[in-house]
This record gives sequence, C-alpha cells and structure tokens, in this order.
Amino acid sequence: MSFTQNQYLALVKELNQHSYQYYVLDDPQISDAQYDELYQQLLQQEKLHPDWLVPESPSQRVGDEPLDEFQSVTHARPMYSLDNAFNLEDLQDFLKRITEKIGETTLRFSAEPKIDGLAINIRYQQGVLVQATTRGDGLVGEDVTHNIKTIQSIPLKLQGEGWPDILEVRGEVFMSKAAFEALNQKQQAQGEKIFANPRNAAAGSLRQLDSRITAERHLSFYLYGWGDISADWQMPDHYTETLQCFAKWGLPINPNAETVSGLEGIEAYYERLLQKRPTLPYEIDGIVYKLDDISQQQLLGFTAKAPRWAIARKFPAEEVWTNLLEIEVQVGRTGAITPVARLEPVFVGGVTVSNATLHNMDEIIRKDVRVGDTVIVRRAGDVIPEVVGPVLSKRSTDLPLFQMPTQCPECGSDVVKEMNMAVYRCTGGLYCPAQRKRALQHFVSRKAMDIKGLGDKLIEQLADLEWVKHPDDFYGLTIEQLAGLDRMAEKSAKNVVDAIDDSKQTTLQRFIYSLGIPEVGEVTAKNLAQHFLTLENIQEASLEKLIEVNDVGEIVAENVINFFKQPHNQEVIAGLRAAGINWPMPEQQSVAEDSDFAGKTVVLTGTLKSMGRTDAKKWLESLGAKVTGSVSAKTDFVVAGEGAGSKKTKAESLGVTVLDEAEWLAQMPEKE
Ligand code: IVH
Repeated sequence: MSFTQNQYLALVKELNQHSYQYYVLDDPQISDAQYDELYQQLLQQEKLHPDWLVPESPSQRVGDEPLDEFQSVTHARPMYSLDNAFNLEDLQDFLKRITEKIGETTLRFSAEPKIDGLAINIRYQQGVLVQATTRGDGLVGEDVTHNIKTIQSIPLKLQGEGWPDILEVRGEVFMSKAAFEALNQKQQAQGEKIFANPRNAAAGSLRQLDSRITAERHLSFYLYGWGDISADWQMPDHYTETLQCFAKWGLPINPNAETVSGLEGIEAYYERLLQKRPTLPYEIDGIVYKLDDISQQQLLGFTAKAPRWAIARKFPAEEVWTNLLEIEVQVGRTGAITPVARLEPVFVGGVTVSNATLHNMDEIIRKDVRVGDTVIVRRAGDVIPEVVGPVLSKRSTDLPLFQMPTQCPECGSDVVKEMNMAVYRCTGGLYCPAQRKRALQHFVSRKAMDIKGLGDKLIEQLADLEWVKHPDDFYGLTIEQLAGLDRMAEKSAKNVVDAIDDSKQTTLQRFIYSLGIPEVGEVTAKNLAQHFLTLENIQEASLEKLIEVNDVGEIVAENVINFFKQPHNQEVIAGLRAAGINWPMPEQQSVAEDSDFAGKTVVLTGTLKSMGRTDAKKWLESLGAKVTGSVSAKTDFVVAGEGAGSKKTKAESLGVTVLDEAEWLAQMPEKE
C-alpha cells in the first residue's frame, strides 16, 4: 500500500491512541492482532521513508543498540523525598504542625497509595518526551530515557493541547505483582537471578543499558507530581486539578487516589486502603497525604529533604499466623548447616511463603520455635520472610526442642559445632554432594567465572549424574551430552558450551574468587591478585607474605595456605589450567606514595554528592588507602557525607578525624 506522509503521521497518532486506550484507560478498542497489523504497516513505511520518522512513533520505544554507560543529569529542580509517619500519633503531630501554620481547621489532602518502586522525572519539550532521569541523590540522577520509553503507558507525545513548552512530570516506576511473578518464573527457568521483590526487580530493569531487556520486563508508571514547568503556564490552584490536567494529556495517574478532609478523612482512607491492599495489582508500603491547595503548599515550603506539606504514612509490616510443619537443614558451600522452617503456605506481603530461614541454632533457641507450633510470619516491603516467634497460647502439648543433626543429611559425615560460634558445619568437604553443588554454583556465578546459562537446576542435574564433580569437569562437557538433558534443546546446549568456552579467558582475580576459598570474597581475591600478580606466587606465599596484603588477616591467610596444600585442590587447578583457562597479568596497584592517604585506613559514610561511594573507594584505594566498613581506634579518617549517622558519632567519640565531603576533596590530589 502506498502512503503519503500525512497518512503515515495519522497512523502514528492512531497507534498511540490505541496504546493509550489499552495501557492507560484499560479499555482497548481493537484486538491485539489488529494492532499488530497496523504496527507492521508503520514499520514498513518507516523502512521505505526513513526521513518521515517522528520521535513519538511507537517504533521508537525500544532501541536496537545498547548504551555504553548511563549519563549523569543534574535535575532542573531537586527531587525531594518524604517524611514518614509510623503511627497515628506521628500523623496527628503532622496535622497539628501544619494547621497551626495555615490557621485553618479542616484541611484537604490528596491521599494516594505509596507504591514501592522508583521515583522518575520525565521531561517533555513541545509535548515530546525528551529525557527521563532517576532520582539519584535528589540533585543528580541518571539518564534512563531509553528505558522509560519502553513503558507503554507513558506517552512519547502529549495528547490534546494547552501544554507548556517545558513540562517535567514525576512519578513512580514500578513492577506489578503479575509482571514480577512472571519475571521470576522466567528467571528461574533460565537459571538466572531471582528478584527478592517487585521494587528490586523494577530497579534492576531500569538499570539496563539495553532497552530490549527493559521492554520485556513490563514496567508500569503512575504520575504524582512535577518538576520544571515553563513559567508562562497558568498552573491550576490545586494539586489534584493539576494532575487531572496532566491526565487529559494522556499521562497515567493512579485511579485509587482520592481527596480527603481532616483527620477523620485521613484515617478512613487508611482503613479502606489497608483492606484493599491484598487485591491491588501492585505492592504498596503506605499512603502519601499531600495538601491539595497549592498556595498552602507554598506557605509551608520544604525542609532540606522533604516537603512540609506532605507525609508518608507507612503500613506496618504484614504479619500472619501459620503452622510450622518441619525444620529442615540446608548445607551450604562451606558446609555450614542452616535450619529452614517449612511452613504451611500462607499469603503475606504480596507473596505466598512456604519456607523461611531460621538462621542458626541460637536463633531457634532465642525465639523458642518448635515443630508443630503456630508461628507468626512477617514480611516487610523489601525483606525476606521471617518467623517472628511462636503463638504460645496455641501450643497444645509440650513440644520437643529442635536438635541439630549430628550427621549431615546429605552425605552422612559428622556435623561439628564451631568453637564460640553458632555455626554447625558438615565435615564432608567436597565429598558432600550438597557442598559440591554449592561450590560448582559458586564457580559459575556472575562475579566468579560468569558462565551464563549454567543455572542452579542444571548444575544439580550435572552433579547428580556425576558428569561434573569438580569445576574442571565443566570444560569437558559436549553439546550432545547437554542436549540429552531435561528441558535442553540443541540451541541452548550450544549456548552453554559456548559460554563455558568463553569463560576460559578470564582474570586472575575472578579465578581466585571462583575457587571458593573460605573467607576469600571478591575484594580479597582482587587484593591477592594485584599483590602477587601470578597464581604461582599466591600458591607459594607464606603466612607472613600473605598478611602483608590489604584486608588479609591470619585466618584468611591460613585458609589460603590450607586450600592450596590439599592435593585434590591442586589437581582441580591443574585440570582448569589444562582446559585452557588463562588471564592477562593483573595491573599492579599504582600507589602514590606522596598522597596524604597512602597507607591510611579510611571509612566512608553517608551520601557523597560528588560521586558514588564505590567510586570514592576506588579512588582512595588507588592512592594506597585501605577503605573499611567500620570505625575503630585504628581508623585514620572518616569521610562523612550527608546524612552520616552512627559511624560519624563513633569516630567523634574515639577522637578519629572526621572530614566532610568538601574537606576531604580538598585533600585529594587532582584526578587524572
Ligand atoms: S511524592 C515532593 N507520592 O516514595 C514529593 N512519592 O519515600 C515527593 N512514592 O521518592 C514524592 N508513591 O519514590 C510521592 N504517591 C506518591 C508516591 C511516592 C511512592 C515514593 C517516591 C518517593 C518516596 C519517598
């Protein structure tokens, strides 16, 4: 079919209208198949006439090239946070404070669900979406325009007319419960990371350099505020009217928001929403109340952190009762035995919970939970489910105390209790299949050899079949072998073998970390690699030499020596080298001897404005400083960013020098 340019533009408009009907109004006017047909026509025209392409075309939602990095963007207006009210008293205080200042008795508020997601600023210029940024530290965020465009309910061009030349809208990007469940199922099937909650999943999805991945994650958005707006635009008098105006231009606002008056209205909304909470399609962690009258908002203004005219009423962590059916134990990579509560499945905080860790024996004794008890299970927003304790009034007879097994349930080896610690450990080492599986899973993990496609389930199968007993066995697997396994097609078998092959080119740091030496995490592995430069040097190093390394104390040094002494570990390492694993010589840490920070122990705390904490740490380390997490008398400096708390207080009480960000930067050398 031949199109004129005007027909092409009309098609863009028509498709955008259908998306709006579907994603914002939840009222589709055509079938998915009809939409697809129109969309194909659009793509065809854009191929024939690339010069016709407009930024609001639905084809522009997903880019085909990943970005190299995220750009930092300074917000035109700061993005504030909210003060919290945890109970009725906090809310009454808030009301009293603002009523006194405004001098009116019954105030009107917009009451809105507080969705657990991420705040985003979206900038429209002449009605076209030009930039979207994360909140970041409130002053500087990251440019995530490419990912925000994949959210179908966000218009690429505003509808109707009357919008200001510049309009920044702000709201929450989140993942619905349904999208979250679907994503985790997919992740699990592919052996990829499982997200703990929708918020983490949304954050992970927004932090993708490749927008094709974000598009598959099905994020959602509701608007609840604004940033920069052209000065000549006549703003309505009320917050709710302003949002209505934005809604008219095609922007999505939360249909569960209401206006309420006075403490009575506030409380009634709280009760209503608490009831509705389990049936809402997304997770909420509270309610936001905002004064509706904008002149009243202006009268109150902002503190450094939050508006004085709004408050977040947090919901209590959800708690339910269920039965403790069994306490089982799991064996970890280093043999540590963890008791796990098997529960009668129960719905709490938006998910069905049937297991919860009990951490260790001390915890079981402290909480006094016993098999057969009715227990209280709690799940707060972003934390994993927890057994709070037994409901003692429901304990029928005298239930026996739980005993840790004396033999490992996986391999029958003796279980020993570590001196002065709550930890019980299986002594089976790599003879124990559970430890072996965990060690193999650790070997392929992202920060170790990073072999994609070798998920936990696949490794279990490979270990059970005894095809892979030690990490070097991975390198002998063939496509034919793998293709014969459950849920493995030829194509995925090939991908796995390719990924295994690719992992041969690695770094010394990853290699050391992947060996799973007790207490040698990625940072210690890096320090060892940079200090000794070759594997042979590490293998031969004495205790005295090892403790010269940053972060390495006697226990870690002994673990390293013990590990390399074992003949079976030497065999595995030889097998891995023979398979072709190799790495370039690490770069020796260049230490500027003359810097004020060389050899000093530094603690970073609070939020830094000029850079992230990871970058600050790297910079300090490049100057020869040791950056640690806790303050002691040995600490030389504490760098205290905004909001620094207990670490700063501790430093002051110990007489350790505390520098604020500006003082610290003034002492740092010029960056190259
Ligand atoms: S208003 C100046 N409204 O909660 C006002 N925030 O704890 C700033 N949030 O950073 C925020 N739902 O990410 C507002 N209806 C809502 C919200 C909401 C969720 C988030 C937002 C904010 C955080 C503060």
